[in-house]
Amino acid sequence: MSPNKEFWSSSKGFVLAMAGSAIGLGNIWRFSYIMGKYGGAAFMLVYLAAIFLIGLPIMLCELSLGRASGKGPLEAMTELAPKRTTLSFFAAVALTLGAAAFAFKGMYFHAGVTGFFALGALLFGWGFLGFTVTFLTPLMIAVFYSVVGGWIIIYTIVSPLGKIFREPTVSAELLDNIVTASGSQYWVTIAAAAAFFLATAFIVMAGVQKGIERFSKIFMPIIFILIIVIIIRALTLPGAKEGLRFLFLPDFSKMSAEGIMAALGQAFFTLSLGAGVGIAYGSYLGKSSSLPKTAITIVIMDTIASILAGLAIFPLLFATGLSPQEGTSLVFKILPAAFGKLPLSPLWGTIFFFTLLLAALTSSISMLEGAVQGIMQKLYLGRAKAVILLILVLGPLVPLTAVSAANYANIPKLGKFFSETLQLRSDSFFAILDNTTCLWLMPLAGLMTLLYVSFVWGKKKAMEEMNCFNAFEWLFSNIWFFVVRFISPVLVIMAFLKGLGIFF
Ligand code: TRP
Repeated sequence: MSPNKEFWSSSKGFVLAMAGSAIGLGNIWRFSYIMGKYGGAAFMLVYLAAIFLIGLPIMLCELSLGRASGKGPLEAMTELAPKRTTLSFFAAVALTLGAAAFAFKGMYFHAGVTGFFALGALLFGWGFLGFTVTFLTPLMIAVFYSVVGGWIIIYTIVSPLGKIFREPTVSAELLDNIVTASGSQYWVTIAAAAAFFLATAFIVMAGVQKGIERFSKIFMPIIFILIIVIIIRALTLPGAKEGLRFLFLPDFSKMSAEGIMAALGQAFFTLSLGAGVGIAYGSYLGKSSSLPKTAITIVIMDTIASILAGLAIFPLLFATGLSPQEGTSLVFKILPAAFGKLPLSPLWGTIFFFTLLLAALTSSISMLEGAVQGIMQKLYLGRAKAVILLILVLGPLVPLTAVSAANYANIPKLGKFFSETLQLRSDSFFAILDNTTCLWLMPLAGLMTLLYVSFVWGKKKAMEEMNCFNAFEWLFSNIWFFVVRFISPVLVIMAFLKGLGIFF
């Protein structure tokens, strides 16, 4: 075992990088559209429970596995224990049963994918979990994230002109064209998504993370201030109260099994869990940092960011009479309308979208970092070549996703193939990537990580890695391990069973 040299200049740099990964489009764009779709306050409660009872414990697992092994996500687990254990064997058995169940229901594509995972788990044991969280999940996310990143680029560019703030109907039409990649916006949307993806790849290649980290340190506070300004403006509009009611008065009758899975998926997405990020970043961390303090700080910062975004967006939404069911374009319709109600709207709008772009970039680089680390280790390539390989493999998927972000109108034949032949019942290719990662891959990887830490790596080593400095941290770590072993996995499994309609 040859641990990486310490990479972060200080614990503060590490916290910032982790926060940079966590805080991104997920807090503003995805949080608000998912919450709108699944009905507000009841969703929020399930989401918060998932953040603290599942997300925080898993983040600590990932950070400690990363630091203990000194290796990235691809090899962290196989470094710390035998590759195949009884537990990985049972995982393979469970996946085989899952594949059989899908085949029985006539869902052959799902059966095939689950069977592939079963075989992977059987042959490669924990190494297969490493493969999934290093390559599969984060790269799928990087693709659809680039599409939304592209929308933000377009917004940043058109904001100074001020038109989208002054003329709501013009902007609504422009937005629809961007999201559906139709009309004059077809190529613009493709170019913007490609630009975001290439920018991410370039930053990872050049290793200039520190540069944008510094940038976002300056701009992040600005976005917080702007959101608070929007909150104040929003709350003074007629009809805003309805938005607060939506956010804070739970109506559990609206809470569906699908909503519970969506809340769990959002918790994983927003904290960048189940995709190797914590393991990759943790592997660069020095032994002297306290993990509980770091993880709690990141989780609280991220949660505050999401709640503030909700407070800005939902009162506005109800005040302007839009539907919470708007979907992926929700914030893109609400925010220009909101800025339009402020003096100097082009200025604030531009700063806001530019900052959001930086926040999105600090997140998207974390999706590629683990994969690049993995390619460098396995194929003995330099960083630049590893990144070029990623560009070649993922590149074609970016425009494909950009033109099918809302529906299959631009690619009818392929759409038919996805929805009828493969039976992927999502509205768009974008939704397939989003659903597969957030509703399946990340929660499953999270579950496996919990089980690995509880039963394979074990309490003694996990507690050692927590590196407690005082009685409070010691107590916290003991509670953490209890939750990791007995609470979080049960909750994830219950959510899965409920989502599948098998249980209560
Ligand atoms: N957490 C980021 C956001 O909220 C997105 C993100 C970055 C991510 N890295 C990830 C999500 C890895 C899943 C996995 O915008």
